[in-house]
Amino acid sequence: MIGRRGPQNGKRALEFPDVGESDEPLLVVENLHTSFRTGRGTVHAVDGVSLTVAAGTTLGIVGESGSGKTVLARSIMGLLPVRDVIKSGTVHFAGHDLTAMEPDQLREIWGAELSMIFQDPMTALNPVKRIGIQITESLRLHLDMDRKEADATAVELLRSVGIPSPEQRVRWYPFQLSGGMRQRVMIAIALACAPRLIMADEPTTGLDVTVQAQILDLLGKLQRERHMAVILVTHDLGVVADRADEIVVMYAGRVVERAPTRTLFAETHMPYTRALMESIPRLADPSGTRLQAIPGRPPDLIHPPKGCRFAPRCAFAQDKCRESDPPLRTAGSPDHLFACWFPLVHGTSTAPSASASASAAGDTTIDPGPVVQSP
Ligand SMILES: Nc1ncnc2c1ncn2[C@@H]1O[C@H](COP(=O)(O)OP(=O)(O)OP(=O)(O)O)[C@@H](O)[C@H]1O
Ligand code: SF4
Ligand SMILES: [Mg+2]
Repeated sequence: MIGRRGPQNGKRALEFPDVGESDEPLLVVENLHTSFRTGRGTVHAVDGVSLTVAAGTTLGIVGESGSGKTVLARSIMGLLPVRDVIKSGTVHFAGHDLTAMEPDQLREIWGAELSMIFQDPMTALNPVKRIGIQITESLRLHLDMDRKEADATAVELLRSVGIPSPEQRVRWYPFQLSGGMRQRVMIAIALACAPRLIMADEPTTGLDVTVQAQILDLLGKLQRERHMAVILVTHDLGVVADRADEIVVMYAGRVVERAPTRTLFAETHMPYTRALMESIPRLADPSGTRLQAIPGRPPDLIHPPKGCRFAPRCAFAQDKCRESDPPLRTAGSPDHLFACWFPLVHGTSTAPSASASASAAGDTTIDPGPVVQSP
C-alpha cells in the first residue's frame, strides 16, 4: 500500500481534522507580506496576498519571472530563510495557523500533510543519496514504517509515477536519471505520505513539451485518485488553463486578478492577464509564429512605481493609473477579483482614451464593486 495517512504510533502531536467534507477551505492565506533586507534596500517580494484553496482542488498561480511566485509558495509553506526576512499575515492550513508554528511543528507536517515539488529537482534532491533512501526517509519519519515496508513502498511509489524497473532504480542516484525522471522522483517524494496539499513550483520547467504534459497529467491523475489539493505555480498561463479550478495572477508581488479558470478566460478584466494570454503558444498558430511578448520589464520591487505597478507597460494607462493604486475589487461576480481602474470588458478597455473603439464594440461600462482587499 502506498501513501498511508496518519501516525502509526501516535507520534504526531498535531491533530488535522478532515476538512474535506466541510465548507471550510483547506488553505486560507490572509494578507501575506514577505520582504527581504538586502544591501540595496528592502525587496517587497510578496505584498499583501490573500487566497484560499478548497480540499481536492487546483489553484494556479501565474506571473512573469520575478513576480513573487516562489517567495509566495515558500512563505505559505514556512520555508523561508531565517535571516533578513520581514514577514506578516496568516496562513491557516486545515484549521492550524502555520505562521504561528515552531520549526519542529512545521517539520511534523511537511511531507505528511503539506508537500512541495521544487522548481529545480537537481538542487532539491540530495545528489549523494540514492533516490530510494530519499523516499523512505519521509515514510519512516512520518509513518513510522519499518525498513522493509518503507523499501517496498518506495518501489511502489516509483512505479506509480511511471519510473520503469523501479526495483533497480531505487538504488540509483539523481544524476543517473533524466530531467523528466528526476521530476517524477520529486513527485514520488512529495506523494509519499499522502499529503492533503501539494505545492508544485514550476514542476516542469526545463522539460520538453511532451514530458511536461506527461508529468502534469500524472500529477492530475494522482491528485484525483487521492483527493489532494494542488497549487500549481507557473509563468505559463497555458499550463494551468485546463488544469486549475481557479487562477491567481501575480504582478510585482501582488494579486492583480483572481477568478475561476473559465471566468478568467471568458471575462478577463486585467490588461496584464490579457497580455499573459497573448503570450500562450497555440497549436493552431502556423509554425514560426512569433509570440506576443509583454513589452517592458516588471518594476523594481525595492522602489515600485506609484499607482498601478503595471502602468509603465500598460497600453491603456491613464493619469489616474499613474497616481493611485487600484485596489483589488469585484464587479458583478463575487468570485472574480481584479486590480484595475479601467478593466477590460468584452475584450475592450474602459479607459477614456479607448472609448471610441469601445463604443463601436458595444457596452463597455462596468460597475465598480466593493474593495475586497487593500493591496
Ligand atoms: N532571498 C532573497 N533575497 C532577496 N531578494 C529575493 C530573495 N528571494 C527572492 N528575492 C526577490 O524576490 C522577487 C520575487 O522572486 P521569486 O523567486 O518569488 O520570483 P518568481 O515569480 O518565482 O520568478 P521565476 O518565475 O523566475 O521563478 C525577485 O525580485 C527576487 O529577486
Ligand atoms: S489600472 Fe490602469 S495602468 Fe493599471 S492595468 Fe488598469 S488600465 Fe492599465
Ligand atoms: Mg520561481
